[in-house]
Amino acid sequence: MRGPKSQLSYPNMIWPVDDTHLDRAAQRLRAGGVVGVPTETVYGLAAAAGSAAGVAAIYRHKGRPAINPLIVHADSLDMVRALVELPALALKLAAAFWPGPLTLVLPRRPGVAIAPAALAGLDSVAVRVPAHAVMTGLIQRLGTPIVAPSANRSGRLSATRAAHVDEDFGGEVPVLDGGDCCAGIESTIVSLLGDTPALLRPGALASGQIEAMLGRPLAAPTSTIIAPGMLLRHYAPRARLRLNAAAAVPGESMLGFGGTPGADLDLSPAGDLAEAATNLFAMLRALDDGREAIAVAPIPAHGLGIAINDRLRRAAQSQIE
Ligand code: TXA
Ligand code: MG
Repeated sequence: MRGPKSQLSYPNMIWPVDDTHLDRAAQRLRAGGVVGVPTETVYGLAAAAGSAAGVAAIYRHKGRPAINPLIVHADSLDMVRALVELPALALKLAAAFWPGPLTLVLPRRPGVAIAPAALAGLDSVAVRVPAHAVMTGLIQRLGTPIVAPSANRSGRLSATRAAHVDEDFGGEVPVLDGGDCCAGIESTIVSLLGDTPALLRPGALASGQIEAMLGRPLAAPTSTIIAPGMLLRHYAPRARLRLNAAAAVPGESMLGFGGTPGADLDLSPAGDLAEAATNLFAMLRALDDGREAIAVAPIPAHGLGIAINDRLRRAAQSQIE
């Protein structure tokens, strides 16, 4: 017998996106719980920004070090304004790229309603306005900002579909099923704390686009800036990664790009970097199937290829630490 999709095709912890489940998700956040939520970049593990219990649950579920602060998600510039100071440059970037995959690090306003643990003792806040109706709809229902790191166990591959979140959290965390994330790679993080805007993490918004808008290059991060997503040990599959490989050797699977002959999976047969970014984490997860190593074809180092290569380098690095 066939029933409505929401009752039959969804395992218990994977929730369809409908009013009932959005309300249930908002209630859970209000009560200090966490929920997996799709964004245009990757799935986030969400808690109400002001909830100390929710924030603690994020760190516990992810196994995330307490020194690693969370990104705050808002549904509007007004909501952002209540949290951080917005210099002219921030307003310019916000006007150009929000809603969207750009995170800005800005000075925190005193007394903001963010649970202190989410900020890991910093007097800055990383904030973004996402372009995904499920995340913004949930923020609106809740009426407060949402903190959400990527919805994966700390240091592992990010999640770009609801089933990935369910896999990582062993059915303990409900996740709203918004389908596959369209960008597939995390937001670009720019710090506006110093004299010059600095690129803390390349991501789904190509840094060249930001530089073109600003009319000047982004600075490299200074060593005092904390962005643990930049730590070498991150985004790692269990299998060893061998980068810039022409072909797989026995025991390896092959992740191709641009039509690599004999590849098990190809990030983009047509050689399209946006498509490759969308597929990156899902394909790494799919190939992380017990084989010892994954050979990865060279990815051009321009546009979104900068962020893809950044994630691949960190994923490959983790095993030799
Ligand atoms: O696309 C994204 O950004 C996703 C979605 C869910 O929004 N989120 C995400 O969160 O990638 P997460 O926690 O995996 O990465 C956020 C990065 C971390 O490396 C964290 O250290 C850094 O942002 N971060 C957070 N607050 C910061 C701050 N005040 N200063 C510098 N870096 C900060
Ligand atoms: Mg992450």
